[in-house]
Amino acid sequence: MASKRTASHRATTILAVAAMAVMIVHRTVRAAAAAPVPVAATTAVAAAAPPATKLPWPPALFVFGDSIVDPGNNNAITTLVRCNFPPYGQDFPGHNATGRFSNGRVPGDILASRLGIKEYVPAYLGTELSDFDLLTGVSFASGGCGFDPLTAELVLCVLTTPCVVVHHHQSVLTMDNQLDLFKEYKEKLKRIAGAPRAADIVSTSLYMVVTGTDDLANTYFTTPFRRDYDLQSYIDFIVQCASDFIQKLYGLGARRINIAGAPPIGCVPSQRTNAGGLDRGCVALYNQASVVFNAALEKEIKRLNGSDALPGSLLKYIDLYTPLIDMIQRPDAYGFDVTNRGCCGTGVFEVTLMCNRYTAHACKDSSKFLFWDTYHLTERGYNLLMAQIVNRYGL
Ligand SMILES: *[C@@H]1O[C@H](CO)[C@@H](O)[C@H](O)[C@H]1NC(C)=O
Ligand SMILES: *[C@@H]1O[C@H](CO)[C@@H](O)[C@H](O)[C@H]1NC(C)=O
Repeated sequence: MASKRTASHRATTILAVAAMAVMIVHRTVRAAAAAPVPVAATTAVAAAAPPATKLPWPPALFVFGDSIVDPGNNNAITTLVRCNFPPYGQDFPGHNATGRFSNGRVPGDILASRLGIKEYVPAYLGTELSDFDLLTGVSFASGGCGFDPLTAELVLCVLTTPCVVVHHHQSVLTMDNQLDLFKEYKEKLKRIAGAPRAADIVSTSLYMVVTGTDDLANTYFTTPFRRDYDLQSYIDFIVQCASDFIQKLYGLGARRINIAGAPPIGCVPSQRTNAGGLDRGCVALYNQASVVFNAALEKEIKRLNGSDALPGSLLKYIDLYTPLIDMIQRPDAYGFDVTNRGCCGTGVFEVTLMCNRYTAHACKDSSKFLFWDTYHLTERGYNLLMAQIVNRYGL
């Protein structure tokens, strides 16, 4: 392929590579000063693997997953699982309801900002993306999806009773759909950055994967469609789906991949309402499912990390459960008044379509609430969660 490139294209590429070299030096210096440099991949890997060097500071952040990290991809597809209307986004610049499932920024934005990359990670779909946007990372996440491909089709079950399986063309993006978009993205990146720099961006950037909640909370516990599995075999199945996803993402060039576990699903306001009884307590069985899933996911990630199958991979399991349950159980320690309801409306039923300016007003002070709606955290909740994660795992 290289021999087919025109001379002018080659000159551009050389310039781009030179510029990148300068940037790498700059970033490495900054990284060394500002944060611990991640451990370099071992040099003992197979000869076919790229030469191991110190990892540069990640030039971009790429995000895959569900509504926790969807910054608006669902606006661009036919689905009712969206929130591009007030009061969503009320604390975003310009009170812009961008499709983020919160009152402000979501975890991808917060992490990119902490990495010094940029303040917002845009949705890959539905917005005009600048070269800067593409060079520094985008989110492919889609609210309502899960590791289980069926989850993307069942998501309306939380909004409608009895549950109807939506037509295939109306489902949200599956994790495989997101990988297809990443392939398309890589072609765009090559066109603007040249093949060598594009490959470098893909292999040195950070990847964030956040999904799995909807598999357990919706697909398994709320709908009848996976009842042929018992809980343990369903967990084994979604961990296998997660493992397949990680391996496919590695196959597309990713090396540094952070994979989040499940939150304490039984304490999410919607699940308290669904299954927590009259006093809306935490649902012990659902929390237990998260704990079992997380242990299995962490074990699989450790098995894959740097293995012969994925040489040079740097995988991290990110525990969301521990920091979240602490915020739920000790609200005072974090300055929250309320952690068992969302800020939107009564906080008992309102999520996506039901949290809108006609049916539900937001609470007076969202900073006093951990949850924004019955499923998603407030921006302040996400900020405190990400602070604890960065404390524990570094950047
Ligand atoms: C609102 O967000 C959309 C999508 O991110 C963006 O295209 C638009 O420019 C934003 N508008 C304002 C006023 O910030
Ligand atoms: C993955 O492997 C690297 C070394 O290659 C190690 O530093 C890191 O702790 C491992 N991560 C996990 C989750 O085991």
